[in-house]
Amino acid sequence: MRVYIKTYGCQMNESDTETMAGILSHEGFEIVDDVESADVVILNTCVVRQKSQDKYHSALGQLVKLKKQGKIKLIGIAGCGSNLEGERLLQLGADFVIGSRSIVEIANVLKRAVEGEKIVYLEDRTCDIVADLPKLRSTKHHAWITIIHGCNRFCTYCIVPYVRGRERSRPIQDVLKEIEGLTQQGVIEVTFLGQNVDAYGKDLKDGTSLAKLIEETSEFDRIKRIWFLTSYPTDITDELIDVVANNPKAAKSFHIPVQSGSDRILKLMNRRYTSAQFLKLVEKIRSKVQDVAISSDIIVGFPTESEEDYLQSVELVRQARFERLNLAVYSPRPGTVAAKYYPDDVPYSVKVKRLNELLNLQKQINAELNRSYLNRTVELFVEGKTKDGSHYGRDIRNKIVIFTAEKPLQPGECVRVKIDRVTAGPVYGKMI
Ligand code: SAH
Ligand code: SF4
Ligand code: F3S
Repeated sequence: MRVYIKTYGCQMNESDTETMAGILSHEGFEIVDDVESADVVILNTCVVRQKSQDKYHSALGQLVKLKKQGKIKLIGIAGCGSNLEGERLLQLGADFVIGSRSIVEIANVLKRAVEGEKIVYLEDRTCDIVADLPKLRSTKHHAWITIIHGCNRFCTYCIVPYVRGRERSRPIQDVLKEIEGLTQQGVIEVTFLGQNVDAYGKDLKDGTSLAKLIEETSEFDRIKRIWFLTSYPTDITDELIDVVANNPKAAKSFHIPVQSGSDRILKLMNRRYTSAQFLKLVEKIRSKVQDVAISSDIIVGFPTESEEDYLQSVELVRQARFERLNLAVYSPRPGTVAAKYYPDDVPYSVKVKRLNELLNLQKQINAELNRSYLNRTVELFVEGKTKDGSHYGRDIRNKIVIFTAEKPLQPGECVRVKIDRVTAGPVYGKMI
């Protein structure tokens, strides 16, 4: 039986897809790359915004049609949408629904569905997500590794704690065992994942921390670069900053969502810092980690966001000068405090205007920052080829570098590139 898994949402879902594909393939199912060649289609879903939810609902509608035409046999829903909608997804035409913390059961759930059963399986099985699980990774030299599941923060706009559950860190020994296995498969780069990846270890209460994990990971000769995503501002410790500063294998990159520049809005969001504290953190990281890249997320149009609040976000962006900024229009999510108690009172046109203005400002900042890349030589691992035959990869600051080379290159090869052209997006150069 051929299975196609379509992934929506964040890197955590990408990683879960790789685990589900690994388990299924281990159990004799064939994993394919498109709907056309599949008997079973699984949508690994995201509900962080209404738009994300609409996307998989429309895909589900299409799949129901294909099933009626006999082109596919079964439809499965996995990921955060399963936890939010459960049973309702069966009514919309899914044959099975499996939760974001239940992925280890995917093969059994699918086998039962093949027998004709309709299933909603949402049990918390995070304890069973361990190093030994087979994974079918999409890249050979790089691996996603979820080290902490769930979130305890309950920002008032966010649905993640409701669909991903509470924070649970994997034991460090288990993570290291996974990395050891990965090195034998040719992996040289790892990205540690968590909604609050910097909270890693706190719940274990045995001194485990992200800083320690990075240090221990760097002991593997074959591991050349170590990334981590996403950091909650107040969970970043001095120890972590020092490790990133001093460990040559640690990528010089922090993704730290700020969400707003207005202290009044930050408070309503239940983010536990002020914009001044955030900027101080940025400054501290920059003073300790040479040439570090800091990226962030901002939500515009949060309930009651006034022009003045918004301008404080603009001011924060001007001051912080992020290397990358993900912008989102506020979207009320069912069950969250904001959706229940705060009116979604910023008109959509105003939200979009604010989003576009910030996008333009960020573009301008990127164009300015990227100028410092001109004539610089960067080292990177080849990730793949662009349509026009150039190669691309990311440098240690997560900058996308597109470059030409005189010989064919394989993904994972380490190359040096001299930058000769920059844009507000990628930078361009030649391999030397
Ligand atoms: N754990 C991370 C972010 C996880 S969700 C953090 O603490 O910041 C990823 C991003 O989606 C968030 O940073 C936020 O910018 C956006 N987001 C989450 N809920 C949203 C909502 N209800 N409306 C719009 N954007 C949202
Ligand atoms: Fe959502 Fe906040 Fe948790 Fe991030 S920290 S996942 S924004 S609740
Ligand atoms: Fe979306 Fe779930 Fe990730 S809601 S952003 S897929 S944790």
